Amino acid sequence: MRFLLLLAATFLVVTGINAQQKFPAVLKGHALLADSFRVDVPADAPEFFQTAGKYTGSGKKRMDKIGGLPAVFDTNADPSTPRPVNVSLPIKGQSVQGMSGVRYLGNGMFALITDNGYGSKFNSPDAILMVHVIQYDWATGGANYIRTIFLSDPNKKLPFQIVAETTKTRYLSGADLDIESINFIGDTMWIGEEFGPYLLEFDWDGKLLNFYENAVPGIGSAKAPENYNIFPLPTNGQPGAVTFEVRRSRGFESSASTIDGKFIYALFEGPLWNATNSTYEQKDGVFFNRMIKFNVTSRNWTGEQWFYPLENAANVLGDMAMIDDTSAIVIERDDTTEGDPDFGCKAGQNNTGTYCFARPAAFKRVYKIVIGEPGTYVKKVGYIDLIDIDDPNGVAKIGKKSNGKFVMPHQNPEGVCIVDKTTIAVVNDNNYPGNAGRTLAGKPDDNEIAWLSVPEFLAAV
Ligand SMILES: *[C@@H]1O[C@H](CO)[C@@H](O)[C@H](O)[C@H]1NC(C)=O
Ligand SMILES: *[C@@H]1O[C@H](CO)[C@@H](O)[C@H](O)[C@H]1NC(C)=O
Ligand SMILES: *[C@@H]1O[C@H](CO)[C@@H](O)[C@H](O)[C@H]1NC(C)=O
Ligand SMILES: *[C@@H]1O[C@H](CO)[C@@H](O)[C@H](O)[C@H]1NC(C)=O
Ligand SMILES: *[C@@H]1O[C@H](CO)[C@@H](O)[C@H](O)[C@H]1NC(C)=O
Ligand SMILES: *[C@@H]1O[C@H](CO)[C@@H](O)[C@H](O)[C@H]1NC(C)=O
Repeated sequence: MRFLLLLAATFLVVTGINAQQKFPAVLKGHALLADSFRVDVPADAPEFFQTAGKYTGSGKKRMDKIGGLPAVFDTNADPSTPRPVNVSLPIKGQSVQGMSGVRYLGNGMFALITDNGYGSKFNSPDAILMVHVIQYDWATGGANYIRTIFLSDPNKKLPFQIVAETTKTRYLSGADLDIESINFIGDTMWIGEEFGPYLLEFDWDGKLLNFYENAVPGIGSAKAPENYNIFPLPTNGQPGAVTFEVRRSRGFESSASTIDGKFIYALFEGPLWNATNSTYEQKDGVFFNRMIKFNVTSRNWTGEQWFYPLENAANVLGDMAMIDDTSAIVIERDDTTEGDPDFGCKAGQNNTGTYCFARPAAFKRVYKIVIGEPGTYVKKVGYIDLIDIDDPNGVAKIGKKSNGKFVMPHQNPEGVCIVDKTTIAVVNDNNYPGNAGRTLAGKPDDNEIAWLSVPEFLAAV
């Protein structure tokens, strides 16, 4: 049934907005950093940050004992019978996990961004915000961890109170910001986040240089429920007047600097909420996400916008990278399914006893878009399917299949970047430790990176 619905929705867009073409993708390299990889916080960070996950238990009540909370379950693969992932929180150190954005730095070196920690403002105050540099060996699939840049706000650029407000170093936490996308322009790092959603400028030491609220034409600053301007505590028990436009966790999951470094496109993860209409934004039955543009020279928004039409109302956008001046790649995916379809649950089978995936990976794609005149829909030129990758040489490090295919089975493929004229890289956000879409053994997903050879896709017009 789910499958039929998907087809129907795709058909709508095919006839409605633009044609769709599927392009081949060949696995050229595959590497992973183990889910258990940890890093110690800097010596000048408060002791509070030396352990993480203390507020992830029931009611967000503090748990100080390492591993003191009950083992985590993956509720995603099969909501009716959650699968244990064999991990207990809190942990010592910080997890190098949850890769939400990626950029290629050259020489096999990638910058990867760890998102806010455990998924919400309230359970992540002790997750420190980090960008990691990892060098991968294409030939062996090895991951060589180089270093972590810890983000901080020592110069008080954020206008609101942070967890480490009273410290000198003012390291940033997953209760302060939810960082999701990253770009490098000259000496600066630009990060798209989703509690604002805000755009943030850092130096390479991780110190915040500037903070920018978004500006959407016709709306102004579009706010998420965690935006510091929103005071969600009602005065009394009567229905409150708190309104905001950005659904929780639908902020700047995607942002992409232009090749010349003069602009940044910021793309909302989902459609904005139109309170007047009581709907998420849509036209002719097609839901769309707004994209706005930031002028790096003048350091303000240009006042231009574009619209990205979704294939399905519930789809979300995971990351974006520019190919050239006018075209880009964007991850579009469903937000619920995970697991290799070959291991889907058969009739009557569930995760009691032998494991299976009740909702195997269904819609996980990378689209190529062309950005036209402001005020228009972006044109979707075609896509590659992350559930249908060719692996003729068997280079998969994990999840190798006998039929010459490779699947990125994760709930959240969430980072994509251009490596060279014919190659892209895709990484998964493992929502550590909650996602277990790769193996049936009851272990959290690792942080995987897949290099995909996609010459026809990148050249398509
Ligand atoms: C779970 O963790 C224990 C202790 O670390 C280990 O012995 C066991 O093999 C793990 N099980 C799985 C399925 O990974
Ligand atoms: C919200 O929807 C109404 C009704 O379609 C429309 O008139 C209005 O312009 C929309 N608001 C925005 C900000 O797009
Ligand atoms: C407002 O809602 C109607 C009915 O659901 C829908 O057709 C229309 O596209 C919506 N307008 C906007 C701006 O989302
Ligand atoms: C960007 O800002 C620069 C400097 O203020 C200005 O010259 C340029 O016209 C702006 N470009 C756009 C598209 O807004
Ligand atoms: C951006 O800033 C420039 C000056 O720095 C100003 O002239 C322009 O109006 C601003 N644009 C917007 C959209 O605010
Ligand atoms: C899962 O399967 C087991 C064994 O077949 C069965 O006893 C149990 O009721 C099933 N659970 C659910 C939620 O379907």
